[in-house]
Amino acid sequence: MDKRFKLLFPHAEIQKRIDSIAAQMTKDLEGKNPLFIAVLNGAFMFAADLMKAVQFPCEITFVKMSSYRGMESCGKVQNLIGLDRDIEDRHIVIIEDIVDSGLSMKTLINYLQDFKPASLRIACCTYKPAALKCPLSLDYVGFEVENLFLVGYGLDYDGYGRNFEDIYVLAEQPGQEN
Ligand code: IMP
Ligand code: MG
Repeated sequence: MDKRFKLLFPHAEIQKRIDSIAAQMTKDLEGKNPLFIAVLNGAFMFAADLMKAVQFPCEITFVKMSSYRGMESCGKVQNLIGLDRDIEDRHIVIIEDIVDSGLSMKTLINYLQDFKPASLRIACCTYKPAALKCPLSLDYVGFEVENLFLVGYGLDYDGYGRNFEDIYVLAEQPGQEN
């Protein structure tokens, strides 16, 4: 990698947050047969650890948001790929790696709401409140972070770093010397 990253959240700290999120989920969702929908690629590691921590009956499936640059004014068009079952009247929890502008989550929520789930919650590992561009209610947040670039634990920099078990932050930000 051509950039330097420094350790932000070691895996043990991530695991602690996951355990407390799982406890919260037990209160909210036990007995409701929830369906977790993990967003690939980034959420694969968070989803795996979260599912191991959750002790009540539940299902998981995986989707992907495909995006391409179009001619539209906002520039980005996204489609949902891979939703493989009926979610009507199901209690849904979206599992996401990071909420940055919030546009991906907003798009996904709009898609899923059309299928009339009983409830729709969001669990994200990291969240950058300062980057949020559209209102979103996040039910389970691992860590609130500054508006800096993160890598590791599913998050990539140019395709690399998803396999790191810890979360790192870009050491040099634009306009910053160190
Ligand atoms: P959004 O801006 O909230 O729609 O986020 C879109 C996607 O950008 C996220 O799901 C991540 O895959 C990616 N992303 C946003 N911030 C970061 C980051 O700091 N590191 C790596 N990927 C990121
Ligand atoms: Mg993502």
